[in-house]
Amino acid sequence: MELVFATNNQHKLEEIQHLLGNTINLLSLKDINCTDEIPEDHNTLEENASQKAWYIYNKYKINCFADDTGLEIDHLKGKPGVLSARYAGENKDSQANMNKVLDELTGIKTRKARFRTVISLIIDGKEIQFEGIVSGSILTEKQGLSGFGYDPIFLPDGFVHSFAEMNLPEKNKISHRARAINKLVNYLKKTI
Ligand code: IMP
Repeated sequence: MELVFATNNQHKLEEIQHLLGNTINLLSLKDINCTDEIPEDHNTLEENASQKAWYIYNKYKINCFADDTGLEIDHLKGKPGVLSARYAGENKDSQANMNKVLDELTGIKTRKARFRTVISLIIDGKEIQFEGIVSGSILTEKQGLSGFGYDPIFLPDGFVHSFAEMNLPEKNKISHRARAINKLVNYLKKTI
């Protein structure tokens, strides 16, 4: 079976293809010649994941899924959330995004936060969503150099190292994305 993942992120594709094994042939947007700027203009991760998946399904009539992830900080009432990539501006600068969060939390004791990933899967016109969450807190300064995005300021609950101080296999054992992907993979293995 062929399944489109609405992404051009090669790393994400390989990660999921590896988990799926060879019963499903995962295709990227590039593989289906889609160069569109797919809209994601809603206020929730659920709506954005859904919007992206339906865009592909309706245009290409092919089974597909899309994901959306955000960092939700309690003290900031769930922000940056859907704005995570461009919290400090349109150029999607991770350092600026982290600096903005650290500034906003200066002197604040309540630093609880979570990464949340939502995946929308559409098979034969029917949609199902999967959620993955990792809870943690926002550090007072950046720690570590690996990973991407907000990794240096996120300390997962029960750990002494930030995401940016973990290697990829360590992070993948507990990450929001891995948890959502595992639910998707289990579902696909059961139903296909
Ligand atoms: P996306 O929906 O996967 O593109 O994620 C949106 C934004 O959330 C990214 O641009 C990052 O800023 C942030 N983000 C998503 N996943 C992670 C992660 O695993 N670590 C750190 N930041 C992340």
